[in-house]
Amino acid sequence: MKLNIPIEETIKKRVSTRTYDSKRLSTIDKEKLVNEISRLTNPFGENVRVHIIEKDTVSNGEKLGTYGVIKGANTFLGVTTDKTEFGLVAAGYQFENLVLIATNMGLATVWLAATFSRDQFEKAMDIQKDELFPAISPIGYATGKRSITESLMRKTMKSDKRKPWEEIFFRDSFGNALSRKEANEYVIPLEMLRLAPSATNAQPWRVVRKQDSYHFFETHKSNASEEDKMIKKVDLGIALSHFHQTALEHGLEGKFEKLEDIKIDIPENTNYIITWKTPYNL
Ligand SMILES: Cc1cc2nc3c(=O)[nH]c(=O)nc-3n(C[C@H](O)[C@H](O)[C@H](O)COP(=O)(O)O)c2cc1C
Repeated sequence: MKLNIPIEETIKKRVSTRTYDSKRLSTIDKEKLVNEISRLTNPFGENVRVHIIEKDTVSNGEKLGTYGVIKGANTFLGVTTDKTEFGLVAAGYQFENLVLIATNMGLATVWLAATFSRDQFEKAMDIQKDELFPAISPIGYATGKRSITESLMRKTMKSDKRKPWEEIFFRDSFGNALSRKEANEYVIPLEMLRLAPSATNAQPWRVVRKQDSYHFFETHKSNASEEDKMIKKVDLGIALSHFHQTALEHGLEGKFEKLEDIKIDIPENTNYIITWKTPYNL
């Protein structure tokens, strides 16, 4: 379902925020957020759950640690999903949709998959053992100033930069770059995908266009841990949110489908995730 916000404009506006004003979320913003959370969906048929907690109302006195990375935040969102094939992809998609809605409301966020105390948040959000709990985000008002830790992190990860088009988008096979011209009406959805946030700004998404289908892949380092690989699936879900929502904004039709055999040679440490089929070959 298309979000009721200007997608391209919001994607360009979104930026990770780690330094927050200590004032609480206004009642109006909180109510709107809760309402938006209840309306979120994903196109993968997965059940994704979003949790929201306020620091000073955590009843069991739990601490909510973010290893000194997050300053000033009072309210946190968390996302959980099932241990199914598309659970993590769907969590990435649906939570990024919420990040974009929040951005459009003037609220600040940052995806956190590593720098938070999972145990503490699990307890505070009452998350069950059989759920996958890939990430949280603080949500609130940006101070407009970054802490030294935050500025250093952004510099180390080159957070303001993205990989060039030809390193991530291909035609027919890996290694054969897709030009902007060849991408045709999909040039903007792909450009918006390229701007997506990802863990450590690794940008693990790769896309191969073949006969008007777009095949999506994740790539990881050869020494990646199982946890790293799980986060790549979340990253892919985020990228698919940007791609899909921009395609919908431009009236482009299609559907996501996992194909049996995509007949493409896949490089090492790369996995096929899903295909966007356009009406030409549905
Ligand atoms: C799945 C995911 C996990 C992330 N985990 C963390 C984290 O644990 N700590 C942190 O400070 N930033 C985290 N980030 C934020 C990224 O570092 C950030 O998105 C990236 O550097 C690009 O910067 P931008 O979001 O401002 O465009 C995460 C982002 C994503 C998408």
